[in-house]
Amino acid sequence: MITIVKSTALHGLEGQIVEVEVDVSRGLPSFDLVGLPDTSVREAKDRVRAAIKNSGFEFPIKRITVNLAPADIKKEGPVYDLPIAIGILAATGQLDPGRCSKYVYLGELSLNGSIRGVSGVLPNVLAAGEACFDDVIIPIDNAEEAALVEDINIFPASSLAELAGFLSGENDLRPFKQDVKKLLELPDGSELDFADVRGQHAARRALEVAAAGGHNIIMLGSPGSGKTMLARRLLSILPDLTFPEAIEATKIHSLAGLLPSGRPLVTRRPFRCPHHTASTVSIVGGGRSPKPGEVSLAHNGVLFLDEIPEFHKDALEALRQPLEDGTVTISRVNSSITYPAELMLVAACNPCPCGYYGDSVRECKCTPYQVERYISRLSGPLLDRIDLHIEVPRLTYEEIATGEKPESSAPIKARVEAARARQRWRFASDENNNSRYITPACNARMGPKEVRRFCKMTKPARALLQEVFQRLSLSARSHDRILKVSRTIADLDGLELIGENQLAEAIQYRTLDRDLLI
Ligand SMILES: Nc1ncnc2c1ncn2[C@@H]1O[C@H](COP(=O)(O)OP(=O)(O)OP(=O)(O)O)[C@@H](O)[C@H]1O
Ligand SMILES: [Mg+2]
Ligand SMILES: [Zn+2]
Repeated sequence: MITIVKSTALHGLEGQIVEVEVDVSRGLPSFDLVGLPDTSVREAKDRVRAAIKNSGFEFPIKRITVNLAPADIKKEGPVYDLPIAIGILAATGQLDPGRCSKYVYLGELSLNGSIRGVSGVLPNVLAAGEACFDDVIIPIDNAEEAALVEDINIFPASSLAELAGFLSGENDLRPFKQDVKKLLELPDGSELDFADVRGQHAARRALEVAAAGGHNIIMLGSPGSGKTMLARRLLSILPDLTFPEAIEATKIHSLAGLLPSGRPLVTRRPFRCPHHTASTVSIVGGGRSPKPGEVSLAHNGVLFLDEIPEFHKDALEALRQPLEDGTVTISRVNSSITYPAELMLVAACNPCPCGYYGDSVRECKCTPYQVERYISRLSGPLLDRIDLHIEVPRLTYEEIATGEKPESSAPIKARVEAARARQRWRFASDENNNSRYITPACNARMGPKEVRRFCKMTKPARALLQEVFQRLSLSARSHDRILKVSRTIADLDGLELIGENQLAEAIQYRTLDRDLLI
């Protein structure tokens, strides 16, 4: 007799229903698994056999064939243990097949029959919902995460025996519910604040501009000048996550198995700071059973690359596509996967190997060749995708000792939000906006067409741009970056037309075009 129970499979972040067909027939005892399962799924056989026996059921000494359909999508991970076990129990009459076919099942089994939590539950449950299933059985450890999907009944189960009891009507499993919107309001612990940062007016301003327009930024400065300190405070001035943004970020963290227990929803913008020894795969994602990398974990948030010239060259090269497209594509043998990667890149570095090139106090010990080689490790095309370049000079004694209280993050964030609101309003009227993922439209994401359309200047500003363009022999890319950044500055200033002041400030943020790279 053939029975069919439902589960789901993911391709990137998109899920679809998978049918687990189980046939138990007479013949030499065997247990075959077909339908493009990877090795992790094939290991299910031993777990399922032990779990069934140890839950007080009989494992059939017959010919068992399990087919995961459709056969053309790769099935990964241990989530099919549970549907396979239920399918076998139903096919052998130990459970009622009709009742079993009503649910979608996800879960790994341990040998003693308990149900273990798995990664990727949120995108899987969303897929079940989209396929119009009402009831999903998931491991109890994943209950809070699964219940982020409203309008669907989530039944958390802790063991195969408990679940079998429920499916045969002997005991009850209660659907798990929670107030999803409340999760967004959970306090998120210690928040770093710009009130701690003395002096550094120029750097603070540049970070405000970066936050207001979603621009990538690189900070250069000698050791101890406060680059890391500034970068870590960026989240405190970025707009709060909206609920759809939070769900997107949570899906990625779920897939990577990085949701902490008790916090099923990613409620604040991610801040990822991989170490400079990180491999290309860990930065952009991939691997044998592909996982999202740092660029996707930073989706809707910040990717901070401290000491950026120290990163592997190919890891930096691989950043170019996500920075350009807001997505990252991972090629595999016979398919490719795309994950979202809409992020703000914040990079920090010393200006030279010893760290003191251009320092006001200490002398740099490097040769001009060493200085040039150090910065040229950042490829031109990567720097080209960073809108703001700023220098973070060491603090003077007066700046450290002053009694003046630095501005805290809250008013800066309010200005950033007002500037973002202007951008949203502007882009809302733009029917050409075809970004695939839900992100607030921001100036940094404008394409060449939008730049021409939305970056209108006053006459003197136009004259200034023309002069600077020729004098500094800027590339077309730099030209557009300057316009985008001046658009953001004008948004902070509440102006529809970009004036000379906004343009002049934006030009200042291209130091690396002028000094170090042609
Ligand atoms: N503007 C500032 N206001 C207050 N404290 C500061 C400031 N700048 C630096 N500091 C202090 O100096 C410490 C070192 O700063 P930070 O680690 O950010 O420097 P850095 O520029 O990242 O240096 P490195 O190049 O060595 O990584 C900070 O933890 C902080 O205590
Ligand atoms: Mg640092
Ligand atoms: Zn030096």
